[in-house]
Amino acid sequence: MRAILATPALVDTELPEPVLGPHDLLVRIEAVAVNPIDTKLRAAVGEGDPPRQLGWDAAGVVAATGEGAGRFRVGDPVMFAGDAGRAGCNAEAVLVDERLVGRRPARLSWAEAASVPLTGLTAWEALFERLDLDPAGGSGRGRSLLILGGAGGVGSIAIQLARRAGAVVIASASRPESAAWVRELGADHVVDHHQPLAPQLAALGFAAVDRIANFSDTDAYWEVMAELIAPLGSIVAIVGNRQPLDLNRLKAKSVTFAWEFMFSRSQFQTPDMGRQGEILDHLAALLEAGELRPTLCRTLSPINAANLVVAHAQLASGSTIGKIALVGWD
Ligand SMILES: NC(=O)c1ccc[n+]([C@@H]2O[C@H](COP(=O)([O-])OP(=O)(O)OC[C@H]3O[C@@H](n4cnc5c(N)ncnc54)[C@H](OP(=O)(O)O)[C@@H]3O)[C@@H](O)[C@H]2O)c1
Repeated sequence: MRAILATPALVDTELPEPVLGPHDLLVRIEAVAVNPIDTKLRAAVGEGDPPRQLGWDAAGVVAATGEGAGRFRVGDPVMFAGDAGRAGCNAEAVLVDERLVGRRPARLSWAEAASVPLTGLTAWEALFERLDLDPAGGSGRGRSLLILGGAGGVGSIAIQLARRAGAVVIASASRPESAAWVRELGADHVVDHHQPLAPQLAALGFAAVDRIANFSDTDAYWEVMAELIAPLGSIVAIVGNRQPLDLNRLKAKSVTFAWEFMFSRSQFQTPDMGRQGEILDHLAALLEAGELRPTLCRTLSPINAANLVVAHAQLASGSTIGKIALVGWD
C-alpha cells in the first residue's frame, strides 16, 4: 500500500498492509486532515531515527473487521482520529480500534468528514467533560465562555458546540478574515488576542468571564487567564506548558483548572474509551441535521508527500482558519 512517512522529510513510500487485532477495523483511507500534532511529532523525528507514519484524522471505508469487532461492517463509511501510539492515517489502509470510530456523516464529503474527529473530540471533551457545559444547553446557558484561538481547527468546532449549549461565546481572532470566520460560526463577540484582553472585554461589558477554553499557548495566557476568570470559574487548556505554572494564582478565586488531551483515552485504554466512538456518532448526527457546519477551509488532492508538505507549512504558520484536508489517491 502507499504511505507517507516522516523521516523527518515527508516521503512517499510503499509498505505492507497492517495486520488486524481483535478490536480493530482495517479502513481504506479516502481523506486525511492535518493537525498541529503532525508538525510537532514530525519535528521530534531526528535524522537516522525510525520514520513515523503521521496523521490522526481520517475518513474512509471499512475493509475488514477483527474477530472481536462488531460495531461496523465491511463497506461502512467511517471517521476517526485513532490512537497517537499507533501508526497514523497517512496511508492507503490503516488499523484503528473500533471503539474510537464514528460513522461518516452522510451529508459531508470525504474531506469534510476527515476534518471532524480530532478537533471535534477535543472540543467536545474540553467543553462538556472538563468544563461543565451541557451539550443540551442546561447548565451553561447564558454564562460567558472566552475561547482563545477561535478560528483554528479546535476553536472552529468549539464555538459552534458552545453556542449550541447556550454559552455566550467571546472568541479571539486577530485578523479581519479570522474575525469574520468566528462570527460566521456564531461567536457573540470577538476580541483580538494580539491586543490586551481585559480592556476589550470591559468594553463589551465583561468584568470577568465564567469559563475560559484556551486553545493556544498555555504559558503565554496563564497570568491573563488568572486575571480574567470570574470567582468560582473554570479553565480548560489543551497545549502543554513549557515553564512551571503557578497554580496558586487560581486559589483565591477557587478556580477549577483542567487539561484536555484527546489521546488520553486511547493511550491509557480507559474503560470508557468507547465514549469517543459515541461522541463521533453524535457529532455526525449534528452535522447531518445541519446543526453544526463543517470546518474544512482548504482541500488538497491527491494524498501524497508533496501536498502534505504544503499542508504542514500552512499549519506551522499558526494562521490556519478552520481545517485543511487531503483527499484521494492518484
Ligand atoms: N490536547 C489536545 O488534545 C489537543 C487537540 C488538538 C489540538 N491541540 C493543540 O492545540 C493547539 C491548537 O490546535 P488547532 O488545531 O486549533 O491549531 P490551528 O488550527 O493551527 O490554530 C490556528 C489559529 O491559532 C490562532 N492563534 C495564533 N496565535 C494565537 C495567539 N497568540 N492566541 C490565540 N490564538 C492564536 C490563529 O488565529 P489568528 O489567525 O486570528 O491570529 C489561527 O486561527 C495546537 O497547539 C495543537 O497542538 C491539542
